[in-house]
Amino acid sequence: MQAGMRDPVVLVPLDALPAHGRTTHLAALYGRIFGRARTPSTAWLEDRMARGAVRLGASVVAARGDPTNPADWCGLALVGLPPSLAPAARAAGMGIVPESRGRGLGKRLVEAMCRRAADAGARTLEVTAHPRHVAFYGALGFRHVRTVETWAAPATTGTPPRWSPAPPTCGGHVLATEIAETWRCGRKPRHLVCTTDGTTVTARTVEVEGGCLVAELRSDRPPSGAGPLAELRSLAGSGHVFVTGIAPDAPFRRLLPRAGFRLVQRAERMARVLAPASATSDGP
Ligand SMILES: CC(C)(COP(=O)(O)OP(=O)(O)OC[C@H]1O[C@@H](n2cnc3c(N)ncnc32)[C@H](O)[C@@H]1OP(=O)(O)O)[C@@H](O)C(=O)NCCC(=O)NCCS
Repeated sequence: MQAGMRDPVVLVPLDALPAHGRTTHLAALYGRIFGRARTPSTAWLEDRMARGAVRLGASVVAARGDPTNPADWCGLALVGLPPSLAPAARAAGMGIVPESRGRGLGKRLVEAMCRRAADAGARTLEVTAHPRHVAFYGALGFRHVRTVETWAAPATTGTPPRWSPAPPTCGGHVLATEIAETWRCGRKPRHLVCTTDGTTVTARTVEVEGGCLVAELRSDRPPSGAGPLAELRSLAGSGHVFVTGIAPDAPFRRLLPRAGFRLVQRAERMARVLAPASATSDGP
């Protein structure tokens, strides 16, 4: 039975929900929140969980009624704490179904994410916000860190991915241009996860990992002598590909239009310093 709008909303960590079918129901909830075109595959979610980009104990669903009944779910907040991002955590998706917006639930979910990330040891929480949500996060204590862009290869159609994974580290430093994630569209979407060092890139390693295509872009010159531009052109020619997480001032970015990519989306990376871990609950 569908819960009524007057039922109290409870926030429940994902690891407290029955594991059977959980990822399928989460993917469906994404679709209800962000639109069907953005519904992720269960493989995508499982990959994020395996990589630590979504941590079950730090992530919650909001339920109006019975939290064990996915039909009652009305919001979600996914948080990741991948080792490469430590001591920061990053939201991998936060939103509320349209009929439950504007009642303070977004604020509750953000506070729950912050508490849970802090309890898991994070000192900051990063979000990747659409420009129209910058004010929402700003009012909740988040400060602007950087703009991130998504570029599409010439043949690419469909919807860009919403979230980029954690940036890699290099010699202990977070790389300037962060990780770049590309998404092959089609009947069975796949992901290409690419790292860059901000200066030059080469797609030297491409392998299948957890159902995803993973390309590691390095600054090393490839043995073939082909430059990063050639590698990007080859990537662009390989089908439907998005590259995300690109900083506007990254040297790597200048290569994208030369390789035929076009700018399709800008988002704002924001971060909030977290209060120390507490024993408080997620509130009423
Ligand atoms: C963005 C979103 C999470 C806000 O959730 P919500 O439940 O509607 O927000 P709340 O009711 O908790 O609002 C909390 C406060 O933020 C304000 N607010 C909400 N959306 C806002 C926006 N886009 N810009 C500025 N302020 C906003 C509210 O007015 C409220 O202010 P108040 O505390 O002074 O009354 C929700 O609209 C949503 O899920 N959108 C679609 C999914 C999405 O895009 N999520 C990704 C966000 S990057």
